[in-house]
Amino acid sequence: MNGTVLRVLLKRLGSTGWQERRGDQHRVRERKRKLTAPIDNIVIAGAGQAGGRAAEALRARGFQGAITILGEESHPPYERPQLSKALLHSADAPVAYIKQARDWSDVLNVRLETGAEVTDCDAGRRTVSTADGRTFAFDRLLIATGTRPRRLAALENSGIEIQYLRNVEDALRFRQSVQRQSRIVIVGGGVIGLEAACAAAKNGCTVTVIESEARLLARAFPAIVSDIVAARHRSHGVTFVFGATVTGTAPNGVRLSNDLEIEADLVLVGIGVEPVPTVAERLGLPSMGGIAVDACGRTAAPEIFCAGDAALQWSRCHGRAIRVETWANAQNQSISVAANMIGEAREYNDPPWFWTDQYDLNIQVAGDMLDAEHVVRGDERSGKFSVVAMRGSEVVGALSVNAAKEMALLKRVIAANARPSRADLESPAYDLRTALK
Ligand code: APR
Repeated sequence: MNGTVLRVLLKRLGSTGWQERRGDQHRVRERKRKLTAPIDNIVIAGAGQAGGRAAEALRARGFQGAITILGEESHPPYERPQLSKALLHSADAPVAYIKQARDWSDVLNVRLETGAEVTDCDAGRRTVSTADGRTFAFDRLLIATGTRPRRLAALENSGIEIQYLRNVEDALRFRQSVQRQSRIVIVGGGVIGLEAACAAAKNGCTVTVIESEARLLARAFPAIVSDIVAARHRSHGVTFVFGATVTGTAPNGVRLSNDLEIEADLVLVGIGVEPVPTVAERLGLPSMGGIAVDACGRTAAPEIFCAGDAALQWSRCHGRAIRVETWANAQNQSISVAANMIGEAREYNDPPWFWTDQYDLNIQVAGDMLDAEHVVRGDERSGKFSVVAMRGSEVVGALSVNAAKEMALLKRVIAANARPSRADLESPAYDLRTALK
C-alpha cells in the first residue's frame, strides 16, 4: 500500500462506516466547523511512552489547553525497554519513569488518570469512556493504547506458572523467578524471549527456548546474525528447540509439538504482540492489524490521531504499511503527531530502528532486513560488523553488531534514500558519509 492508496483508503473509511453518509451536507459542514474550532481539550488514550511523550510535546510546542492522559496501568508513563533489560539484570534496579506522577500535574499541568482503561469512544460526540464509567470530552484524541502480548492458548489455565513480559509488574515478577534459579522454558526466540533468556542464564537458571521457526529472530535478522546470537546463548548454557511449540503440560513441565517433554517450574511467553483492540473497534475502524494513519498520524476521523505500537503507517523501507513496535517509534512518531494535533503538518518518515542487548552483544536494526540482498561490512568473526540490506540500488535496512557508530551513519543513509554502490559498501574503508553528500 503506497501513500496514495492509504489516502484513498482513509477517505473511504471516512465516508462509509462511521462518519457521514454521501450527500449528507449538513454533517459535512458540521464536521468542518468542528475541525476549525479552537482546540481547548486534548485527550490521550494510553499512558505509555507514546502517550507520555505526546503530552510533553504538546506543552513544548506551546499548547495551553487541557491535556488528559488516560492510562490503564497504575503507573505514570514509562519506557518499556527496561522491562527486559535493566530491571531484570539488577535485583534492586528502580523503575525509571518518564516523569514522576506529581510532575505531570505540577510541572506540565497535565491531568494523569491512572487505572483508567479506555473502553469506548464516540467520535460523533467526541467523548471517550473508561471502564469505571467516566466520560471525557475531547476536541482532539490521540490513541496511544499500544499493544498487548499474544497469549499462548495451549497453556492458559493448565496449572503450570505462565508469565508474560509487558509491564512493570510482569518484569518484577520475572525478576524474582530468575533470582530463584528456576527451570524456565521460554516460548519465542524473538527480542523479548532472548533478553529474558540472557537475564535468566546469567542468574544461574536452567533455560530452554522453544522457537517455532528454524532460527532465532527470523522476523528481523539475517541468518548469520541469528547464528551468532544462538552461539552466544549456548555458551551461557541456554538450550534451543527449533521448529516446535508448546502444546500442553507434562508431569514435571511442558510437552512440545514434537513430543519432547521439558522440565520447567515456569514458562515465559514472548511470541509477539497485537494491538489493544477496544478503541479501534468501538470507532468502527477496520482491523487491519493496526489503526491506519496517514504520514501525519491522522486516522480516518480527522480529529482522532494515533501514534506508537498501534499505528499502521506507510514505511518506505518496507514498501507497505506496518506497525512499528519500537522505543524509537513511540518516542519520535508521537512527538511529531502531537504537533499535528494542534495544527502542524509534519510527516513522520523515520526508518524503524531498535536495539537489543544480550550478553556482550549490542545489536541494532534499522529499516527492513527481509526480502533483500545482504552486504556484510567488516568481518563477522571479529564480533564487530554490520550487514546492509539492499533492494535494487536502494539501501532499505541495516543491522550492526557492536558497531553503534556505524549504525548512526547507516540510519542516515537509509533515511536519505542514498544509493551507494554495493562495491563501496563491501569495503569497510568506504566512508558512509560520502553517500550522504
Ligand atoms: N511457539 C514458539 N515460538 C513462537 C510461537 C509459538 N507458538 N509463535 C511465535 N513464535 C516466535 C516467532 O517466530 C518469533 O521468533 O516467537 C518470536 C516472537 O518474537 P517477536 O515477534 O520479536 O516478539 P517478542 O519477542 O514477543 O517481542 C514483542 O516487544 O520489545 C518489543 O519491539 C519488540 O516488537 C517486539 C515486541
